[in-house]
Amino acid sequence: MIADSRHEGPIITLDGPAGSGKSSTAKAVAKRLDFRHLDSGALYRALTLGLLRSSVVEADWKNLSEQGFTNLDIDLETSENGFQVLIEGEAVDIELRTPGVTDRVSFVASLPASRQSILGLQRRAGEDGRLVADGRDMGTVVFPHAELKIYLIADLEERAMRRLREVGEDSPDDLGLAQQARTLDTRDQSDSQRAISPLKKAQGAIELDTTGLAFEEQVQAIVDLAHRLTLL
Ligand code: DC
Repeated sequence: MIADSRHEGPIITLDGPAGSGKSSTAKAVAKRLDFRHLDSGALYRALTLGLLRSSVVEADWKNLSEQGFTNLDIDLETSENGFQVLIEGEAVDIELRTPGVTDRVSFVASLPASRQSILGLQRRAGEDGRLVADGRDMGTVVFPHAELKIYLIADLEERAMRRLREVGEDSPDDLGLAQQARTLDTRDQSDSQRAISPLKKAQGAIELDTTGLAFEEQVQAIVDLAHRLTLL
């Protein structure tokens, strides 16, 4: 059990539903402040990819112990602006975004043993502070003592549109948009209704609705909050 989540320098947490722009915003905020960026979703994706590469059949994933997940050997290596995710010492990036991983990651993230297996890793990433961490439980569970907590939200349709733009679909038809909205909504339901570390606004978090905001505006809003709290 990792009891102490206190840290040396400031930590900013960004939590929120799928497609709310957390990771890209967190990355840009970190760059502006010269902080590191931790994308915790990438760790759940790495656990999922590690399982897909392992000999454990999918039907047995739910029975794995914390040690079983630890054996997948997920690690973080310090990189220029943040952290590189490693599986058994090998750097992984685009492999974490394949449909095979995306379709299963919410289930893997709902397992208490999986969450416990990477809690220490995440907290070590924050030990020296100067970190912007994004995910679903950054402000509630992983860094409850963070100096600034943001809860990012945006309308479902806007989030669906952003996700489609990310994959190069700039003018989706109504059907494509509705399908993407349903996919996001299903993932949000699963992430916010699970028993352990559900997606929710942390105590003391500032809610930022990015629906009508341009990307630079939402980055600026968080940088301004950090300045106001004299975190820098
Ligand atoms: O942010 P993302 O889409 O890469 O997250 C992948 C999945 O991991 C998503 O279903 C939510 C889950 N997740 C989580 O449960 N807790 C976190 N801190 C980060 C992500």
